Amino acid sequence: MYNELAAYIREMYDRPDGFIPMHEPRFIGNEKKYLEQCIDTTFVSSVGEFVDRFAKMMCEMTGAAYAIPVSNGTAALHLSLVGAGVKQDDEVLTQSLTFIATCNAIVYEKATPHFIDIDADTLGMSPEKLKDRLEEIAEMRNGECFNRETGKRIKACVPMHTFGLPLRIDEIAEICNEYNIVLIEDAAESLGSTYKGQHTGRFGKLGAISFNGNKIATSGGGGAILTDDIELGKHLHHLSTQAKIPHTYNYEHDYIGYNYRMPNINAALICAQLEQLHRFVEDKRQIHEAYKQFFQEIDDIDLLDEIGQANSNYWLNAIQVESKEKKVEFLENLNAAGIMCRPVWKLLHTLPMFSQCPKGNLSNSTEAEDKTINITSSSRLNG
Ligand SMILES: Cc1ncc(COP(=O)(O)O)c(C=O)c1O
Repeated sequence: MYNELAAYIREMYDRPDGFIPMHEPRFIGNEKKYLEQCIDTTFVSSVGEFVDRFAKMMCEMTGAAYAIPVSNGTAALHLSLVGAGVKQDDEVLTQSLTFIATCNAIVYEKATPHFIDIDADTLGMSPEKLKDRLEEIAEMRNGECFNRETGKRIKACVPMHTFGLPLRIDEIAEICNEYNIVLIEDAAESLGSTYKGQHTGRFGKLGAISFNGNKIATSGGGGAILTDDIELGKHLHHLSTQAKIPHTYNYEHDYIGYNYRMPNINAALICAQLEQLHRFVEDKRQIHEAYKQFFQEIDDIDLLDEIGQANSNYWLNAIQVESKEKKVEFLENLNAAGIMCRPVWKLLHTLPMFSQCPKGNLSNSTEAEDKTINITSSSRLNG
């Protein structure tokens, strides 16, 4: 099967030999033209027309009332947590199965991640498991949610749309509302993915998106925060630019701010990429279909699919094998054939920095860690 799969992928990508990486960017539109414009005008840094154009495009594409361009997805998450009012010693509910940036951002505010299990079909936070955990430990005091076991306030919840697959985010939002917990979506991987017709990152108070080089559309490095709360959006925007009070020549600041600005040169790149996003998503969905055809003939391997009413960008395709041993076998064989595959992240609660954090039953996360592999998923578009 491994030789057959390697040949199938090589044919799909029209690459008879050489290494095929997990995800390569594709520059098929106005990228060069816009970058040249930045250089010609000398506007390569923190202000420029592309930064504003990018924010506008993000609002149009996602339906958000306000978008804040930032330096990367981790900064978007961090600033979202600040905007949610997360403070030292709070707990923030999140997933153990996610990229480490989700948890690091929580710790930047000196808060504690509290791990909730995922659903087996979306690999995103499970509403059922969230509800069970809150019923077990939550206590409302003066309208705020507390963990009665640790005595800490549970201020926010950060679920993550894994590999672009939308999770059951409307149900998570309902539970968060019930417990007065601020919902922030980690939509770093799900640009172009929708659930029930709404763009991911738009179901809570704030949503964070990444434009890292490995994402479906890239600014080299970059991120965005989405919100419908325009006042909050403006405030976070201000914080992201060192909280400098706008003035022609004076330097005055009214908060402890951050240097989280997206430079104009990065915004130029992402503007050109966003113009092509619909093509990227379409191509990714075709790649997913091609994988589906291959794996439906293989009994003991499942390809992860979007759930009903979800529309995935299929940023990275993921398969699940029968066991840990099969996972190693698969990884060894495909990587040896020059086709990059990688296991899902190590669960964060098993890392030394997060091993003491509170958690619910994480059985689905553990099973997913044992069995899940990402397979090469670059777009095939080349102009
Ligand atoms: C789930 C998730 N959260 C956060 C991030 C952080 O984004 P960035 O690398 O742009 O800081 C990434 C990706 O890199 C991610 O995949």
